[in-house]
Amino acid sequence: MPPKRIKPMESIHADHASVSFLPSSHAKELFGKTGIVARWDHYPRFSWVHKITPRYSTAMSIAWLLYPREFPKPIAYSLDGAIAYSKRVPLTAQSEQGIRNFYDPLWPRTIDPLEGSMSSFFLHNDHVSDKALNRAKTLYQNSGLLVNVKPMNVGERRNGKPVFFEVTKVSIPVLERRISLLPNQTPNQRIRKAQLLSLLEELRKWANGEPIVSVHDFLRR
Ligand SMILES: Nc1ncnc2c1ncn2[C@@H]1O[C@H](COP(=O)(O)OP(=O)(O)O)[C@@H](O)[C@H]1O
Ligand SMILES: [Mg+2]
Repeated sequence: MPPKRIKPMESIHADHASVSFLPSSHAKELFGKTGIVARWDHYPRFSWVHKITPRYSTAMSIAWLLYPREFPKPIAYSLDGAIAYSKRVPLTAQSEQGIRNFYDPLWPRTIDPLEGSMSSFFLHNDHVSDKALNRAKTLYQNSGLLVNVKPMNVGERRNGKPVFFEVTKVSIPVLERRISLLPNQTPNQRIRKAQLLSLLEELRKWANGEPIVSVHDFLRR
C-alpha cells in the first residue's frame, strides 16, 4: 500500500510517480530519522504498468554511491521496487517552487492563464538548464549514467549545485570501467567498490547482453 497522502502541498504528483514528504513523526517511526520522502508508482489503475522497478532503485543507488552530492540518498526500497524512500534533498526556494509550479494540479485554476502561469517554472528552468546539461554530459562520459535533464527533474541545491532526481539509462561498459578505476586501499573504499560491483551485476542481468540498459521506462508487470 502506498503511504497515505499527506497534505496536498506536501506531495508532488509527477510524470510517473507521486512523491510525499513524510511528516517527521511518520519518518521517525519508520526509520528513526526525519527528512524522508516516499516515492511510489501512481498508476495503480493501469494494472499492466509498473513503473518503479528494482532496476530503477539499483541505478539510483549506484548513482548515489558514485556521486553522493548529486543524487538523493536512498534509504529503503520495497523488494519489488514499488516504493522508494530517500533522504529529502533541500533545494533553493526558487527551484522548489519552480518544480511545484510545473506539477501542481491547481495552477491552471489559481493562476491567470494569460499571465505567464508557468513563470516560476521557467525561472527555475533558466537557472538550472545549462548547469544540468554540462554536468549530465560529464556524468555520462565518466560513469555511463544518463540523467533526465528536463528541469522538473533537476533541483538546485542550496550550494548552487544541481541534484538529479532521475537516471533514465545506464551504459554498462562505461559504468564498469568507472567502477574498475575506483581505489580499494581502505576498508571503506573496499566496501563501496564491492557494493558497486554487486549493483552492476544486477543491472547487467537486466541488460540482456545489450550495452545500454533502460531503467526508467514503462514496464509490463
Ligand atoms: N529525495 C528527494 N528530495 C527532494 N525532492 C524530491 C526527492 N525525490 C523526488 N523529489 C521531487 O519529486 C519530483 C518527482 O520525482 P521523480 O522521481 O522525478 O518522479 P517522476 O518519475 O514521476 O517524474 C522531483 O522532480 C523532485 O522535485
Ligand atoms: Mg521526474
